[in-house]
Amino acid sequence: MDGIRMIEFQQNGDERGHLVVIEGMKDVPFDIKRVFYIYGSQNDVVRGSHANRRSEFMLINVSGTSKVKIDYGKKTEVFNLDKAHIGLYILKMVWKDMYDFSRDSVLLVLASESYDPNEYIRNKDVYYAEIGV
Ligand code: TYD
Repeated sequence: MDGIRMIEFQQNGDERGHLVVIEGMKDVPFDIKRVFYIYGSQNDVVRGSHANRRSEFMLINVSGTSKVKIDYGKKTEVFNLDKAHIGLYILKMVWKDMYDFSRDSVLLVLASESYDPNEYIRNKDVYYAEIGV
């Protein structure tokens, strides 16, 4: 599905280390309005568990690893986030669960919208009803 895909960013590496640049509407297909990051989650924790009516996201494990299970009604898919220069782009109206966090996991999230709790769908039956499945 085109609305859910891994995107590889250019690594500007030299003997000093790596530097990855992410610009809105260039490296990600939206203007970046919000940045947050998730760390310190235990391995058995499941986060997310929601869909967003408006927000698109880019998820990047800038340290450590995690998994993202996405559900868009007819199909589920699991993505491994394990590289600081590869992220998962998620279109709006996609259900996502993040889990299996390594101890050193820092999951960086770029979002296309400012925070609005009302655009979050946290009930899966409501989500399925809204997308018509
Ligand atoms: P939550 O949506 O439960 O996180 P996750 O999707 O990773 O499981 O958010 C945790 C708390 O942080 C909750 O009280 C709402 C708050 N929050 C904001 O204030 N702004 C934000 O942009 C986000 C993502 C969360």
